Amino acid sequence: MEYLEGNKKKEMDLDVRDILLSAGQAPSPHNIQPWVFMANDYSLTIIPDKRKSLKASDPNNRQLFVSMGCAIENLSIAAATRRFEIVRTNMMNNGAYTFDLEHNYRVTPDPLYPMIAERRVDRRKYDGSRLTQQHLQALSDITPEYGVRMHMLPIGNVEADILTRYILDGNKRQLETPEVKRELINAMRFNLGDELKTHDGLATRLMGGVPPMPGWLGRFLMGMALSVKSQNASMLKHINSSSHLVLFNTVSDNMTGWVSLGRTLQRFMLVATSLGVSFSFLSQPFECSTLAKRLMYELPYGNEAPVMALRLGYAQGQPLKSLRHPLSSILVG
Ligand SMILES: Cc1cc2nc3c(=O)[nH]c(=O)nc-3n(C[C@H](O)[C@H](O)[C@H](O)COP(=O)(O)O)c2cc1C
Repeated sequence: MEYLEGNKKKEMDLDVRDILLSAGQAPSPHNIQPWVFMANDYSLTIIPDKRKSLKASDPNNRQLFVSMGCAIENLSIAAATRRFEIVRTNMMNNGAYTFDLEHNYRVTPDPLYPMIAERRVDRRKYDGSRLTQQHLQALSDITPEYGVRMHMLPIGNVEADILTRYILDGNKRQLETPEVKRELINAMRFNLGDELKTHDGLATRLMGGVPPMPGWLGRFLMGMALSVKSQNASMLKHINSSSHLVLFNTVSDNMTGWVSLGRTLQRFMLVATSLGVSFSFLSQPFECSTLAKRLMYELPYGNEAPVMALRLGYAQGQPLKSLRHPLSSILVG
């Protein structure tokens, strides 16, 4: 792999390439992949790419920085697996993070590394069974980053019912906001050709039941099909087919808090993947600040700001993977 630095072409170290590829496998809202990378020998920088931010559904870039946290967690797992120690971390005002790596053969490889390539969201209905005690324990045992809290809520308990009500309300508000709905539909890729042009977005081939079609037709039909009534009915069915909701809160509702939350969320998803536990994101209530505030007051978690929720459960097989940008297109120098 070659990349440009100044006017010189350099060979990219295979370890560095693998670490950056791992970071780029992180999830992001609408699969926007809001980052670019810089590699200066073993000094790696991940820079938020705010041109990709979702202006209507994520006006404060909260979800963008949660995604950055997910990418940083992957980076640090891949670095440890390649026997690198992160000897310095530097955060800049624009939210870019630089990690200086040094070889250290005493660093233990992270057993979650193989899960980075396996992890994917599963938006299907689950089989309705409860998580085993062993799986629940393994997920609850994950140590969150500083300032991050996780709450496992069994479907049917009071807190899960409250959260579900807010998810449905959030979904309704989103679908009733034309800019948010447009952002969602524009992110959809209705055929493989369009997917391969952008290497991002939400591929309808992963959603089941939507045949490939030209983009203009897909956008037209989706505009009519995305009604509040049908979407909320299907969302409720999906939630009720799950075992638990898990709520991720932060005590500092700011950029560093969101990045820390993203790191915890990513670790959680990788552990879930290793256990064969399926998960899907439910970010609807947190995208509306008044709704998120009301939710905070209704739930018994004090001043913790709710930022993200997943539903968890079991499903047969695995959905397909979504595409990522090639490394060469997101390297800046
Ligand atoms: C901060 C954040 C918010 C997300 N919100 C949603 C959501 O509300 N609904 C959903 O179905 N997926 C959501 N996703 C999942 C992304 O759509 C998914 O990660 C992306 O399409 C890439 O797919 P993958 O995770 O399977 O690689 C979210 C992901 C992140 C990181």
